[in-house]
Amino acid sequence: MQTVEALVGPRSEAAPMGREARLPQGALLLAPMVALSHRALRELILGFDAAGPRRGLDLAYTEMTSAAALTAHSVFDECFIDAGPEPARVVYQFYTTKSEGFREALAMVADRGVFGVDINFGCSAPHILRSGGGAAWMREPKEAANLVRIARSAWSASLSAKLRIGAEDDYGSLRDFCLGLIEAGIDFLTLHPRLEGQKFRRSGRWDYVARLAQELSVPLVGNGDIRGFGDWSRWMAEARPAGIMIGREAVRRPWIFALIRGCEADSAFELRVDLRETAFRFLDLVEKRLPPEFHESRAKRFFSYYCDNFSFAHHLNVKLQRAADPASMRQILDEYLDEVPGDRIALERA
Ligand SMILES: Cc1cc2nc3c(=O)[nH]c(=O)nc-3n(C[C@H](O)[C@H](O)[C@H](O)COP(=O)(O)O)c2cc1C
Repeated sequence: MQTVEALVGPRSEAAPMGREARLPQGALLLAPMVALSHRALRELILGFDAAGPRRGLDLAYTEMTSAAALTAHSVFDECFIDAGPEPARVVYQFYTTKSEGFREALAMVADRGVFGVDINFGCSAPHILRSGGGAAWMREPKEAANLVRIARSAWSASLSAKLRIGAEDDYGSLRDFCLGLIEAGIDFLTLHPRLEGQKFRRSGRWDYVARLAQELSVPLVGNGDIRGFGDWSRWMAEARPAGIMIGREAVRRPWIFALIRGCEADSAFELRVDLRETAFRFLDLVEKRLPPEFHESRAKRFFSYYCDNFSFAHHLNVKLQRAADPASMRQILDEYLDEVPGDRIALERA
């Protein structure tokens, strides 16, 4: 079995980050996902560290947080910028529609001890695009570079940005956009290789990741459609990114990072996962770490992915989506496992 270093090869040996924090070699990253990438999910994932030969997750992005809402002291700020339990493995993702006020937002999180801050240039949800945030910045390369320049002058830890291909299927425009950000001081980039507005139906263009990773002078993380060790090792070898970011599969299988590291070290690696215990632990974390107003919605969001682990996924998910609180969700899970006891343990391997 090849190691990550062997797969990445010499190109990224000396990732030119140059500031306080460096992207670990062949890093595994948790993607920013609204209503999913919060402290409870992060703690659940970190709990699987001990299951593999070495730690699984290197960096966990928070869901995108509005810089304007933060500076206006909106009500759930503390939850959005909770960097626990290990701030050094956290990247705050910010979303903004303008450069004014961004410096102030960064100043508000300067003492949190996080690995870094990421700027969202990739979200293409219609309301975000209309407001001029997310992927709308990719239509304004000079403005985007200016935002990075402002952030760079105000932020000394890692500064990164997450992108899509852009509005057009045009590699040259994407590369030029990236070069502007690099010139403005970005430390690394993540590419989710889909066009603006493109949904998940068609697979991502990892050929874009491969080409860009070769041409940029900063590390490039690839993201999109990683479902397991096979996808991970394929794209590490073929696209040679500096790291790989995983989103939806990390909600379905929060042990995915531990599994990848385990299989990387030993192709016969197996992980025995107690699906009941994992779900219950997640619900405990939701109740402990998130404000009460979020318990029901965040638990339901999680289960809409996690239920895929069960034989009767749709049936179970429909019931959980009708539950009013975590206590009822625990009861529904137990009733299901009484009926289908064989579903409790999943044996995970490459
Ligand atoms: C529910 C959901 C919420 C998302 N929220 C964000 C976000 O806040 N910021 C962002 O940059 N991307 C966001 N994304 C995109 C993901 O970060 C990631 O790029 C995408 O899901 C592809 O990765 P995957 O195939 O591993 O899931 C979101 C995706 C999903 C499914």
